[in-house]
Amino acid sequence: MPAAPGTEIALRIGDDMHLHLRDGAALHAVLPHTAAQFQRAIVMPNLKPPVTTVVEAAAYRERILAARPSESPFEPLMTLYLTPATTAATIEKAHASEFVHAVKFYPAGATTNSDAGVVNLASMYSTLEAMEKFDLPLLVHGEVVDANVDVFDRERVFLDRELEPLTRRFPQLRVVFEHITTHEATDFVAGAHARVAATITAHHLLMNRNAIFAGGVRPHHYCLPVLKREEHRLRLLAAATSGNPKFFAGTDSAPHARHTKENACGCAGIYTAHAALELYAEAFDSVDALDKLEAFVAEFGARFYRLPLNTSRLRLRKEAVAVPQSFSMGDDALVPMRAGGALTWRMVR
Ligand code: DOR
Ligand code: ZN
Repeated sequence: MPAAPGTEIALRIGDDMHLHLRDGAALHAVLPHTAAQFQRAIVMPNLKPPVTTVVEAAAYRERILAARPSESPFEPLMTLYLTPATTAATIEKAHASEFVHAVKFYPAGATTNSDAGVVNLASMYSTLEAMEKFDLPLLVHGEVVDANVDVFDRERVFLDRELEPLTRRFPQLRVVFEHITTHEATDFVAGAHARVAATITAHHLLMNRNAIFAGGVRPHHYCLPVLKREEHRLRLLAAATSGNPKFFAGTDSAPHARHTKENACGCAGIYTAHAALELYAEAFDSVDALDKLEAFVAEFGARFYRLPLNTSRLRLRKEAVAVPQSFSMGDDALVPMRAGGALTWRMVR
């Protein structure tokens, strides 16, 4: 039975282990949303140009710290973007820094700002060896870019062609299979060794691919990896609420200006940072698993990244809350998930 209206739950403040904060005006617009809900976030490096060196990550981190709301304790956890030019020396520097926590692999051409990515992981073995040696996690956008592969199969095919061989070749490398969307990915992670984990977004827990076509094409429900069938959503929900520490929260909240999504060739990305925790709570509540929410948002990810658990707490109340049609983002509008609709949980500090 889902919780009754008015129910309150208290939980440890958590971490968003996969977040797009962008830069400039967009950063200033979106950061307060995340900082109100999470203590820390793994920040994606797919800026234009991408964050590829420790020096660039340090500068980006300073820009994020400067954009925080006053008094906010939010801490950005930085990542580097894996390019063909990422050497073992870069990895050693990243390891020596206090603030770079992982390296992100985007298959070149797979998604937003991925052009600088790596075509083939097999060409990066010396860099991956260094990551294994220095114990720096590899974060994987797990989709093949092969135009002959059906867009709904790209994650599954990536798993067979790239990820499974990678985890066999580098058994000590910590790997996060990011924003998983299929039951094949869920089964793979559950069965893999302990250093393989996965993030799951709130939107993949709450929507299936019908949401992209509900009454007409819905560009604000287009993300990558694309939403899948209901049977996959149910398996993701089962994994997220299973209490298995290999599955933890990473929103992949991805802000794009309204006109770039409502476009003949719209960008991929769903913005959820305004209500990430409430959306996760709704998903967990739908299967009567609110008791599993705290570990999913505040323990499993921190343990994987070897970070101390956060100590402050927050509360959620089951209560309808209206979502605005849009937020402003510099001179642009940003359309959030559930725009003009309602959330079923409210955060109360
Ligand atoms: O939907 C997505 N948006 N998927 C990604 O992999 C990238 C992200 C973005 O940066 O907009
Ligand atoms: Zn992402």
